[in-house]
Amino acid sequence: MEFRVSGLEFLVVASLVDSKLETRNSKPLHTMTEETIQRILSRYPDRRSALLPLMHLCQEEAGYLTEEAMRGLAARLDLPPTQVAEVAMFYDMFRLKSGGRREIWVCHNLSCALLGAERVIRRLEEALGVSTGETTPDGLFTIKRVECLAACGLAPAIQVGPDYYGPVSHGDVETLVARLREQLAGSDQRAASCDRL
Ligand code: FES
Repeated sequence: MEFRVSGLEFLVVASLVDSKLETRNSKPLHTMTEETIQRILSRYPDRRSALLPLMHLCQEEAGYLTEEAMRGLAARLDLPPTQVAEVAMFYDMFRLKSGGRREIWVCHNLSCALLGAERVIRRLEEALGVSTGETTPDGLFTIKRVECLAACGLAPAIQVGPDYYGPVSHGDVETLVARLREQLAGSDQRAASCDRL
C-alpha cells in the first residue's frame, strides 16, 4: 500500500507514542468486509469523518490499534498518519497495546460497589479463569476494574467496547461471557483485513 507521507514521519509519531504503541509481536489482524467499510464510509460526505468508527472496527478486530491498521486507515482516508496516531492517543477508548480482543471493563465505583460489583468481578474471574488485569490464555478477554462508567443507572455496570451491560448480577456473568464469545466468533467470519483498508 502506498502512503502519502514517509515511513519516517510515522516513526517519529511512534516514538512520541513511546511505550504506548506496540509495534512488535503484533497479533495477526482479524478481518472485516469491504462491504462493512463501504457502509461506514457511505455515512459521511467527507470520508475523513469516518476515522473514529473505522478505528473502532480495527480495534475490535485485533484487540488494539496496530501500527499497520493506523497506516492503512491514514492511506484509505487520505489523512496524515500523524493525525491517526494523535487521535488514537487522545481517546482512552483506543488501545495501542495488545491485550484481550475484548476488554471487559467492570466499574467498581460507589454505586456499582454498593450493588455488588465485587461479586460480579469474582464471578467473572472464575468464569474466565484469570484475575483482573490478566488476559485469558486464548487472548480473547482481559478483565479491567475501572472507575465510574457514567452508567450508574445500570449499576453494577460493565462496558465492553461501545456496549454497556447492566444491572449485571453475578448470575448474569456466564450469559454475558457466552454472548461475547458469540460476537467474537461472528467477527472471525469477516473477510478483508484492516491493513488492506
Ligand atoms: S459508579 Fe459504576 S457506572 Fe457509575
